[in-house]
Amino acid sequence: SGTLTFLGIESSCDDTAAAVVRLHGTTPEVLSSVVEGQTALHAAFGGVVPEIAARAHAERLDGCVEQALSLAGLDLSHLDGIAVTAGPGLIGGVLSGVMLAKGLAAATGLPMVGVNHLAGHGLTPRLTDGLAFPYLLLLVSGGHCQFLIVKSATEFQRLGGTIDDAPGEAFDKTAKLLGLPQPGGPVVEAEAALGDARRFQFPRPLLDRPGCDMSFSGLKTALLRTRDAVIAEKGGITLQDRRDMCAGFQLAVAEVLAEKTRRAVQIYLDLAPSSAVLAVAGGVAANQALRGRLEAVSAQLGLGFVAPPLRLCTDNAAMIAWAGIELFQAGQRDGFDLQARPRWPL
Ligand code: KG4
Ligand code: ZN
Repeated sequence: SGTLTFLGIESSCDDTAAAVVRLHGTTPEVLSSVVEGQTALHAAFGGVVPEIAARAHAERLDGCVEQALSLAGLDLSHLDGIAVTAGPGLIGGVLSGVMLAKGLAAATGLPMVGVNHLAGHGLTPRLTDGLAFPYLLLLVSGGHCQFLIVKSATEFQRLGGTIDDAPGEAFDKTAKLLGLPQPGGPVVEAEAALGDARRFQFPRPLLDRPGCDMSFSGLKTALLRTRDAVIAEKGGITLQDRRDMCAGFQLAVAEVLAEKTRRAVQIYLDLAPSSAVLAVAGGVAANQALRGRLEAVSAQLGLGFVAPPLRLCTDNAAMIAWAGIELFQAGQRDGFDLQARPRWPL
């Protein structure tokens, strides 16, 4: 068996990314992975501004692709295909990536594969750990939160998920409410590490409900109330208050995710008892406290646990190149009618 080398392009949110992944026989290798974040561009607005994101992607994509190829020591003639995120996401950015992929495919004659961003996250454990199908996946990011049985590169069975906000969004809103910079996840995690998680009580929504659906929108309301109560009492919040709130908030998220994971595992084991692995993916999976909890749940229930390295948990193009290779092997080829899709459930 030979090799397959794919360029991946990702521009669905606020990271412009390009990467080259090569499959040698059955062993994948990330030859390069370039991620250009936009944190500074959006910092003044307290969230991602779609128009600013779209413009930045359009300006930076070419350079990211050139850099990814040059870091891999390759040029376009060494590639076997081009994979691009075709959704879901902010449409301006997705369009920029899809148009670039079409241009490259037209210029080189290379096959093009449109990839669902969520499938990119979901197939990452196969890139990093060679995980076999099927496996149970908890996908937790800024825009998504769901339990999926990953049966093949094209079959994802949803067991449950958030009915409102995603946890990443809750982390970002928490940071905003406490005057911390975006993206909130890493900052809140760092603050939480210095705080007392037991000082403030935060709700554990939907724990009383069966199944593995979740809700995180109530947490930001609870945090706002807690913050305002502290301010009313003391006239302001100290560094320690802030750390304790972050710690309490993070513990609530981690406990809900751990308990719902326990239930998802039970459902999964009834459906696919032969293959017992839990994998996590998505930006929030970069959270060490959360990983620790999920790893403990897996160990308790006798499951293997796979968590990709941080740089492959948050948005990147290596996961898109890899998903492109998997879909290409499954026979997928897209034509120049490939659509950019703002919404695209798995
Ligand atoms: O997967 P991702 O890069 O983009 C989406 O597809 O959403 O996830 C970004 C989200 C952001 O909300 C960010 O705050 C969160 O992941 N995040 C974290 C951590 N690192 C990133 N959340 C909690 N703890 C972290 N260490
Ligand atoms: Zn993502």
